[in-house]
Amino acid sequence: MHNPALQHCGIDAQYVRVQVPVGSVGEALRKFAKAGFIGINVTIPHKFEALDTVDEVDPLARTLGAVNTVHIKDGRLYGYNSDGPGFLRSVQEAFKAEVKDLRVLILGAGGGAGRAVAVQCALEHCQALTLVNRTASKAHELAVELQGRGVQARSVAWDAEALAQVLPEVDLIVNGTSLGMKPEDAPLLPAGSLLSRHLVFDMVYRAGGQLTQLGALASEAGAAYVDGVTLLLHQGAISFEHWFDYPAPLDVMRAGLRDALCA
Ligand SMILES: NC(=O)c1ccc[n+]([C@@H]2O[C@H](COP(=O)([O-])OP(=O)(O)OC[C@H]3O[C@@H](n4cnc5c(N)ncnc54)[C@H](OP(=O)(O)O)[C@@H]3O)[C@@H](O)[C@H]2O)c1
Repeated sequence: MHNPALQHCGIDAQYVRVQVPVGSVGEALRKFAKAGFIGINVTIPHKFEALDTVDEVDPLARTLGAVNTVHIKDGRLYGYNSDGPGFLRSVQEAFKAEVKDLRVLILGAGGGAGRAVAVQCALEHCQALTLVNRTASKAHELAVELQGRGVQARSVAWDAEALAQVLPEVDLIVNGTSLGMKPEDAPLLPAGSLLSRHLVFDMVYRAGGQLTQLGALASEAGAAYVDGVTLLLHQGAISFEHWFDYPAPLDVMRAGLRDALCA
C-alpha cells in the first residue's frame, strides 16, 4: 500500500517491515531516527510503549491512549494515532453512516486499537457506548472515564447471556480483539445473535479476502459487514499524510493493498 503510494508521488523512499522485541521500542525508534527514517507505523503490541517513548505526542493520540504513527523530523519523534480517525473514515465509506448517530458496542475495548476506537466514538458523541473486554476491569475503567466526557457509556461482561441482552440495543458492533483471523479462534458472539439491521465492523482481516469468523456470522444474519482491510487502508492513508503533509493517493493505495493481500 505504501510503496505504490511513494512511487506514485515520486518520493524516493521505501516502506519496510522491521520486527522489534517488546521493551525495545524506544531504542528501535532512536535507531530508525539515526538511520534517516522519515516515518514509522507501530503495530500490535507496541502502541502503548510508543506513546511513552516519542518526544512529542499529538493531543488526539494522547486522548486516544496509543501511538501507531511516528513522524521523524529533525531527529525528533512525533507520535500520532491514525486508528481512531481511520475508523471514522471507514464507517463512512463502508456503511454511509456517521458514528454520532449510532449506538456502538466494542469487543476488545481494553486493547490499543479498541480503546482508541472507543474514545474516538465518545469524542464524536455517539448515541451510546457498550464496552466489552476479556479483562473486564479495563472495559469498566474506560467506561467510567468516558462517562466523564459526557457520553452514555457502560461495560458489560463477556458472556453469552449479557451479550444476548445488549445486542438488540446497539447498531454498530466492532471487533477490536485479536480474535477472528484463525478458524479455530474462540467465537466472539453466540451463533444467531446478530440482526440484519446491525452494522458489523471487524478490525481483523484475513489475507485473500476470506471472511473472518465475525464476517461469517454477519453474513448468516444478512447484516452489513466490513473487515479490517478498509481500516488498514484509511489508517495508512492518514499516516502517509502525517509523514509527507500531502494528500494520500487513496486509489493507488487501495489497489496496492488489494494486490498485496491477494499475492
Ligand atoms: N485493520 C487495521 O488497520 C487494524 C488497526 C489496528 C488494529 N487492528 C487489529 O486489531 C486487533 C487488536 O490490536 P491492538 O493493537 O488493540 O492489540 P492489543 O493492544 O494487544 O489488544 C488486544 C485485544 O484483544 C483482546 N484479546 C486478546 N486475546 C484474546 C482472547 N483470546 N480472548 C478475548 N480477547 C482477547 C485483549 O483483551 P485483554 O485486554 O483481556 O488482553 C485486547 O482487548 C489486532 O488483531 C490488530 O491486528 C487492525
